[in-house]
Amino acid sequence: METVVSGIRPTGNLHLGNYFGAVKNFIRMQQEQRCYFFIADYHSLTTHPTPADLHGSVKQVLAEYLAAGLDPEKSTLYIQSDLPEVAELYLLLNMNAYIGELERTTSFKDKIRAQPDNVNAGLLTYPVLMAADIIIHKAAKVPVGKDQEQNLEMARHFARRFNHMYKHEFFPEPAPFNFGQELIKIPGLDGSGKMGKSEGNGIFLYEDAGSIRKKVMRAVTDSGPTAMDQVVSEPIQNLFTIMEQVSAPDTLQHFKDKYASCEIRYGDLKKQLSEDIVNFTAPIRERIIEIKSDEAYLSKVARMGAEKARESARVTLREVREIIGFRPF
Ligand code: TRP
Repeated sequence: METVVSGIRPTGNLHLGNYFGAVKNFIRMQQEQRCYFFIADYHSLTTHPTPADLHGSVKQVLAEYLAAGLDPEKSTLYIQSDLPEVAELYLLLNMNAYIGELERTTSFKDKIRAQPDNVNAGLLTYPVLMAADIIIHKAAKVPVGKDQEQNLEMARHFARRFNHMYKHEFFPEPAPFNFGQELIKIPGLDGSGKMGKSEGNGIFLYEDAGSIRKKVMRAVTDSGPTAMDQVVSEPIQNLFTIMEQVSAPDTLQHFKDKYASCEIRYGDLKKQLSEDIVNFTAPIRERIIEIKSDEAYLSKVARMGAEKARESARVTLREVREIIGFRPF
């Protein structure tokens, strides 16, 4: 069994793309590995220093992941800021993180372009905190998307550097991990590309039926097939791809046949797809609402997660302090 760590941003709600991608990945991993999943609320301050409702966003995201299937009995599910050890490890790692390498990080360059009025030190040292998150549990695997690969590479540097500087083979090097081919990419409804928060084309798990229907009915299509067995255009293929996940196989086949024989009516396709999405997300949405109103349950989950995470973090930190040379008087 390997140790897996991954952080979740508290600023984004789960959409279908996340559900069939990262979340499915997490759910599968929690069966097989020793998993630590946490909500990265410290990190969120680098871009949102004065959040309107920090606790509320953390609660929402926690409820969404639980509703989607993360099991607090199988994995350790916690809030980053409940782990003071991570802040201490971050401090120690910062002593061996160099301004030059941090300034060269792509995500730092992107962020200073996006928020030129708030180029704070936390933004610069974002990868150091992320490394602390990972190596505090001596993780071997980190499930992350492409956009986080460089940050993960930095985490490997910091782990290796610690080992060399203090002459201890202490931290394992965390490797990126995903199920690759098996990971389903859910496209957006705007004709091309994938579903994403920043793309503004997401269908969210918490959305009500009316809002989902409206979004699906507005989905981009084309002017329709004009020849038998014509190659399916991208916007239509995207609708089929979503249908593949949420609809019955014969429903999908029905519309594919209609397309092939040039009899398809996109209005019907969208109506069917929106109903199938609504049916798919409705129970998850209900669970989100139910979990969010259950303060006792949420607090139990958070407390249990913090306890388990701290057990692991405390051991690592004790050894780190020892290795560096801190001694009690
Ligand atoms: N940076 C990650 C993101 O933006 C979130 C994150 C924080 C993370 N710490 C982590 C991911 C540790 C994996 C491991 O998505």
